[in-house]
Amino acid sequence: MSTSPLADLAQQTTELLAAIAALSTLDALRDAEASLTGKRSPLAALQKSLGALEPATRKTAGAELQEARRIVETALEERRADLRREARRSSLETDRLDLGDVIPSDVHWPLAAGHPGLVSLTQRELEDVFVGMGFTVADGPEVESDWYNFEALNIPPAHPARGLWDTFYIDLGEPETVVLRTHTSPTQIHLMERAVATDSLPIHSVMPGRCFRRDTPDASHLYSFHQIEGLVVDRGITFGDLAGVIETFTRAYFGPDISSRLRPGYFPFTEPSAEFEVTCTICRGAGCRTCSSTGWLELGGCGMLDPAVLAAVGIDGEQWSGFAFGFGIDRCAQMRHELSDMRALIENDVRFLGQFS
Ligand code: PHE
Repeated sequence: MSTSPLADLAQQTTELLAAIAALSTLDALRDAEASLTGKRSPLAALQKSLGALEPATRKTAGAELQEARRIVETALEERRADLRREARRSSLETDRLDLGDVIPSDVHWPLAAGHPGLVSLTQRELEDVFVGMGFTVADGPEVESDWYNFEALNIPPAHPARGLWDTFYIDLGEPETVVLRTHTSPTQIHLMERAVATDSLPIHSVMPGRCFRRDTPDASHLYSFHQIEGLVVDRGITFGDLAGVIETFTRAYFGPDISSRLRPGYFPFTEPSAEFEVTCTICRGAGCRTCSSTGWLELGGCGMLDPAVLAAVGIDGEQWSGFAFGFGIDRCAQMRHELSDMRALIENDVRFLGQFS
């Protein structure tokens, strides 16, 4: 019945995303770019056909088209980044030198091999716990647009809530401001957008990664640190599910004598929001200097997805609900291993690194 030129926009978006996912080299991506997002793309053809519409329909159709374009362009940029990484990895592989003939024969074997640092080890352990609970692991870009880091998360420009994050803004002279992500929450937006575009809700994922804040390093803060974000979008999800996941995680990771509690908190992208705390790992709840005699240490934030966030990514809040949480990986390492100063994690002192393998 419908004669709108956008009648199969969703279908075309899905096809474009599939074509992007199928690109296997940077050259192929460069060759295909014009036909995927450029002048020769179906989206450009649709753009032209909008001219024939009534002004009122043209406006909504234009907005729909723009949204589709943004999703496709983001997917293309992510694919480009993946392929670049892949190309670099394989060039490192082919450029490898075999030093077999060069190393003198009196070297004492075996040479000491390195091992991943404490943050990577901690990240793997956290991922293992969540994978055991049925979550998948995803990641997102460390450099974000203002829209992903703030606006889509219900934090408009100049909103006082931006003060919660000391942000590195980067002026690249582009129309959009670029930021080093201040938290892993923007990855929630990428995941939800992709699930909408590919019609693949529900989501049960964790997203670990590096974040940046304009903080002066001290015993418990670094300007570059790591978080792990959790996101569940499904039918009939309640705050009870959130509390259950947090408690199950806490016991699985810290041990059966450590438990969690949720205290009312505020985040613009969750409602209601909570701070989540775990039994102080130093005094096991008795009260000490580290926990200011409360017996509890704050680990992260969480809450039910705010309807404004679901709306920003085009998810129907009547059908779907969900929760998110985010907490510090470095903080977990600090608590689990009783590190008195978090700066040890970035100083690369081999006497420290050697203790964890
Ligand atoms: N992103 C928040 C922070 O870094 C934590 C958070 C994540 C809160 C998910 C709620 C939901 O402060």
